[in-house]
Amino acid sequence: MPATVIVGAQWGDEGKGKIVDLLAEHSDLVCRYNGGPNAGHTIVVDGETYKLRHFPSGILRGKECVIGAGCVVDPGLLIEELDELEARGVATDGVRLSGNAHLIMPWHPMIDRGGERRLGALQIGTTRRGIGPTYADKAFRLGIRVQDLLDPKILRAKIEVALAEKNVWLERVYGDEPLELEELAARLEGDAQRLRPYVADTSLLVDRALRDGRDVLLEGAHGTLLDLDHGTYPFVTSSNCVAGGAATGIGVGPTKIDAVVGVAKSYVTRVGEGPFPTEIDGPDQKRMRELGGEFGTVTGRQRRCGWLDLVALRYAARLNGFTSLALTKLDVLSHFAELPVCVRYRLPDGSETADFPAHQSDFHHARPVYELLHGWERPLDGAERLAALPPEARAYVYFVEQALGLDVDLVGTGRERERVLARD
Ligand code: GDP
Ligand code: IMO
Ligand code: MG
Repeated sequence: MPATVIVGAQWGDEGKGKIVDLLAEHSDLVCRYNGGPNAGHTIVVDGETYKLRHFPSGILRGKECVIGAGCVVDPGLLIEELDELEARGVATDGVRLSGNAHLIMPWHPMIDRGGERRLGALQIGTTRRGIGPTYADKAFRLGIRVQDLLDPKILRAKIEVALAEKNVWLERVYGDEPLELEELAARLEGDAQRLRPYVADTSLLVDRALRDGRDVLLEGAHGTLLDLDHGTYPFVTSSNCVAGGAATGIGVGPTKIDAVVGVAKSYVTRVGEGPFPTEIDGPDQKRMRELGGEFGTVTGRQRRCGWLDLVALRYAARLNGFTSLALTKLDVLSHFAELPVCVRYRLPDGSETADFPAHQSDFHHARPVYELLHGWERPLDGAERLAALPPEARAYVYFVEQALGLDVDLVGTGRERERVLARD
């Protein structure tokens, strides 16, 4: 498959990183098309855990890696991540950073934190990494881009213009200390020296790779229900996570995309605030969190846990045009005797629907209608192929396939890189 999009089908943390790492083995170029250090992708290789924030997961395979125009980059954190990977022996010379990606400047996380503070009980529960304010400045055409790092004069002038406004916000609206121009310009110029060699015309690079018949993976961060336009607004992130975002976020035509692999957990998790119809009420919530290790990669926050939601998953299939599905963390369900799976929502007017509600109030009040599937209550360690799974586990996977009209081509059965079963 020359160009394949890998996209989260739920509220993020589906295990995209691990699936991308797996598919990267047979790819030439791996690209991230959206988001920034709000993403956290954990990959376990030979007992070593890697946590990636900006980089696409192909970096661990030594592949050429693109951070596309649709991403936002925190220069300090990116350098930290580069240093950390290099210190662990991971080569970073294949990294290519789009000059059009926007920079998260020091005022953006401050505004993110201040905004959440002001919202109080109504807060979104962001990662506080400055994502929303950075994308807002981009849309406002006030953003500072990676390519501005290449010219110290332009960089300084842009910081000066931005600070004249941002410092008023920081002081008057959020009661923070103002930022100092000289100190900031010097710090960014230092970062610029380090990052300059990685800056490239990444749209051209991807286009050339595709023309040469090379295999390209386009990795989405976060998940479909966190998409700015189609997710559970306002409890979303500020970028387009859906597969369509791959074309704009990288700068390739949508006709170049051959396949879209949706990654879904065998259950559902969500970090931060917002509606979640299948969230478990009772001790199984904590049990699932502990069994699945459901604590945020970026913030360490507890992830909220719920049963598999096929209404939301069908919506994700529609929005992304999945050509196949990867179902991760099936092993976590091995500990439950009964597995409720949500097949419809009951709406406040008493009606039932299998379609994702178009109106926020319907979704906020939707109650899940479950079908109970049998658990298998034994470990999945022994299985090396999908066909070798216990019959109840195969039935669970088959139920998902039938409900969505899609093949599940990959099934995750553990944290380690090799713990993925492929269709026979
Ligand atoms: P991402 O953001 O979608 O890449 O997912 P995260 O890395 O934030 O969260 C997924 C977590 O589940 C990580 O800790 C992974 O190591 C782990 N994981 C991924 N696939 C599996 C699986 O099949 N089984 C188990 N038990 N853990 C998995
Ligand atoms: P990966 O790529 C899970 C959530 C935050 C919050 C909302 C907005 O690891 O799957 P933001 O900081 O983006 O403005 O926060 O989006 N969120 C994620 N949740 N996984 C992620 O990324 C997320 N990225 C953002 O928790 O609710
Ligand atoms: Mg994650």
